[in-house]
Amino acid sequence: MVTYQSMSGYVSEAISVMNRSKMVLVTGGAGFIGSHLVDRLVSEGYAVRVVDDLSTGRLENIGDHLSRGSVDFVQGDIRDSELIRKCVDGVNVVVHLAALTSVPFSVKNPDLTFDVNVSGSLNLMRSCVKEGVERFVFASTCAVFGDPEFLPVNENAQVNPISPYAESKLLAERYCSGFYERGVLESVVLRFFNVFGPRQGLSEYSGVITRFVDRCRRGLPLVVYGDGLQTRDFVSVFDVVEGVLAAVRSGGVEGEVFNIGSGKATSLNVLAKAVLELAGVDLEIHHEKPRAGDIKDSYADISKAKRLLGFEPRVTLREGLKAIV
Ligand SMILES: NC(=O)c1ccc[n+]([C@@H]2O[C@H](COP(=O)([O-])OP(=O)(O)OC[C@H]3O[C@@H](n4cnc5c(N)ncnc54)[C@H](O)[C@@H]3O)[C@@H](O)[C@H]2O)c1
Repeated sequence: MVTYQSMSGYVSEAISVMNRSKMVLVTGGAGFIGSHLVDRLVSEGYAVRVVDDLSTGRLENIGDHLSRGSVDFVQGDIRDSELIRKCVDGVNVVVHLAALTSVPFSVKNPDLTFDVNVSGSLNLMRSCVKEGVERFVFASTCAVFGDPEFLPVNENAQVNPISPYAESKLLAERYCSGFYERGVLESVVLRFFNVFGPRQGLSEYSGVITRFVDRCRRGLPLVVYGDGLQTRDFVSVFDVVEGVLAAVRSGGVEGEVFNIGSGKATSLNVLAKAVLELAGVDLEIHHEKPRAGDIKDSYADISKAKRLLGFEPRVTLREGLKAIV
């Protein structure tokens, strides 16, 4: 089903005239990160179109924009060539977030993961080339590093994906650089670390913070896979959105790959205790056996993003947790 919501002239007075003439297509724009990006793009005065198959995304996430008619919404699949060609028509910039994002799901469903994350991305990039899109910003992941060879991990570190999800993202990254090197598409690759914030979906495959908060609400013990000493780089979705916006706007960053994280390491045990403390509940922490495809330690060197994108994470883990616990 394809639903077009009309693109009305809702534009705040404060926005710049320049943005008004730019149209951004956000794939996966009804999802967690995508919907926050849509909020920000609309507030900056961009014309925004979203394509999403609503497999994990929700219309409520962009409901305000739909009721005001400030966003075009197309329900559909990024693997559908005809649909994507229409979506890309008239678009200046594409931010490609649509993907199957779960590591455990990808271990169980590698074919589907490759189909959506690799073939879907390639389909989109081909349409972008045909329609003369000016910039293609691709959401990749820190999972491409596997267990990083050094920490904090920078963009030059060896990649070593250890799950079908990570492998699929790396392949899509390679298409981005291939298209860029052939001079047909200005791509920018962003490797997000562990993004958290409001609207993060809750399912058996959710990120750890969403699962912890849900267990607190239900008065159930928090489940940590492994000994809990493994570290992650938790970055607020609001900071990630600023990084994406910079990648949309900055000159001279075509063909580049950037880490987008907080630059700080937090162990899952520390995270679990912080969530319990902020929620004001006294629950046990249960340790279960490590999951296939999960990595041991990871945190980002973000100096390149700071230097070239002006990226500066502002939301601390504690502040970010307070807002959602
Ligand atoms: N959340 C994180 O911590 C994190 C970390 C690293 C990378 N990323 C990447 O960021 C992007 C956004 O992730 P998110 O956390 O917002 O996940 P999400 O699941 O909330 O968003 C993905 C969106 O893509 C849509 N989608 C999935 N398959 C589609 C298809 N075939 N056609 C059209 N739409 C489809 C979903 O409905 C959803 O709205 C993904 O590419 C993900 O790999 C996220």
